[in-house]
Amino acid sequence: MANESKLQNIIGHCKEYGFVFQSSEIYDGLSAVYDYGQLGVELKRNIRDYWWKSMTQMQDNIVGLDAAIFMHPTVWKASGHVDNFSDPMIDNKDSQKRYRVDHLIEGYAETLDKEKGEAILAQMDQLLAANDFVGLKQLIDDYKISCGVSGTCNWTEVRQFNLMFSTEIGSVADEANVIYLRPETAQGIFVNFLNVQKSGRMKIPFGIAQTGKAFRNEIVARGFIFRMREFEQMEMQFFVKPGTQQEWYEHWKAARMKWHLSLGIPQDSYRFHDHVKLAHYADAACDIEYDFAGMGFKEVEGIHSRTDYDLKQHQQFSGKKLTYFDTDINQHYVPYVVETSIGLDRTVLMILSAAYKEEDLSAEGKEDSRVVLSLPPMLAPVKLAVLPLTKKDGLPEIAKELIDQCRPYFKCFYEEKDSIGKRYRRQDAIGTPFCITIDHQTKEDQTVTIRHRDSMTQERIALASVKDMVMDKIKMF
Ligand code: GAP
Repeated sequence: MANESKLQNIIGHCKEYGFVFQSSEIYDGLSAVYDYGQLGVELKRNIRDYWWKSMTQMQDNIVGLDAAIFMHPTVWKASGHVDNFSDPMIDNKDSQKRYRVDHLIEGYAETLDKEKGEAILAQMDQLLAANDFVGLKQLIDDYKISCGVSGTCNWTEVRQFNLMFSTEIGSVADEANVIYLRPETAQGIFVNFLNVQKSGRMKIPFGIAQTGKAFRNEIVARGFIFRMREFEQMEMQFFVKPGTQQEWYEHWKAARMKWHLSLGIPQDSYRFHDHVKLAHYADAACDIEYDFAGMGFKEVEGIHSRTDYDLKQHQQFSGKKLTYFDTDINQHYVPYVVETSIGLDRTVLMILSAAYKEEDLSAEGKEDSRVVLSLPPMLAPVKLAVLPLTKKDGLPEIAKELIDQCRPYFKCFYEEKDSIGKRYRRQDAIGTPFCITIDHQTKEDQTVTIRHRDSMTQERIALASVKDMVMDKIKMF
């Protein structure tokens, strides 16, 4: 299956089975905003739980936090987001379509041969680094780069657009009440650094983890749930002694890659991308990239050594000390920070990309096929489907009794409609790892048939052993 059509098929599959819907679809949708349906919400919650447990419960020295989305507006001044969190944009006057300048030029460069494309990208990088908007406009004019919609080169000047959404707090609509929807969860951790350190008696090195919504007014929104305007992040800030940040940066790079591989995704689907051009606050940074269906290698997680920049900025803007007293060396210092930051929605897309398979099962002249989501059992939205062979002879009652026994521990699904084959296919399509069939033999010897999703093999096991067998296969650690 071509990669591009695989992405389209995944998008269709997500809608058909209730994983992801376009937001406000009946009003023709809201661009780059999505809703998770009945199965998507379970998958997303399972991924969040796995990350949360890996980063808090399984660590000696990392605790959680749930900071508010709204923060004091000065937070975003201190963090640099008010002044720097923006992209140069240009509008086509005929189509009214707005482009990120770098994406427009990159798109054009892709249509050229390699050498010419690289030359124009090098020119662009220099102009971007110098914030030379006039030069960027000139570049677009010189190469006669046109709008994909109108086909014309009738452009506005290049302008800077801040990606933060703003709103007002309180009832008086004046400047002083402007407040932002957070564009990252990290700042909630920085401003609570001392609260957590003191109340939790945390000793450096230690970390604070948080999951939650972030908002960015992305201008170019594409790639389904890859780039959204409202999305969820799972971030962890690890506070370390100055001078040890390189060692912790390497530690977290390796630890996070190990986490990705624990999802059962093969190593060659991942790569590190080390940043050459570093953000002003970082002394080392890399992305973990995944080979997404239809998009190729793209960032799913960032690991950043952020120095003491954020804490020092908050110290300066708030006038409050954010130092730690290290009893090992009898010294106060502002800790350095190593951050791991992964997008939850991007992780959902990564896991769906890795799990989605269209299998040809034709045999002996009989055509057959199935779509299966080979999700890790611990992440599957439904863990166990219980299917009585017929609607009578007491089989539904046995099935429901089994579900009652299992449902406090994991999510089950009951279905008695259609043939067993069709019911298996529906469970394959939503990634249910185990199906149990209750038949007449169950009444005689208290055994059931268990069918395994990926291999499609079936075996007979004791009815009484089902719950523990599933529990064993879905455990996270
Ligand atoms: N605190 C650091 C930070 O926010 P980032 O590289 O801007 O760093 C971290 O974002 C992660 O958040 C990315 O690796 C990506 O997975 C996710 N992310 C960022 N923007 C996103 C968007 N518009 N839609 C979905 N996920 C996004």
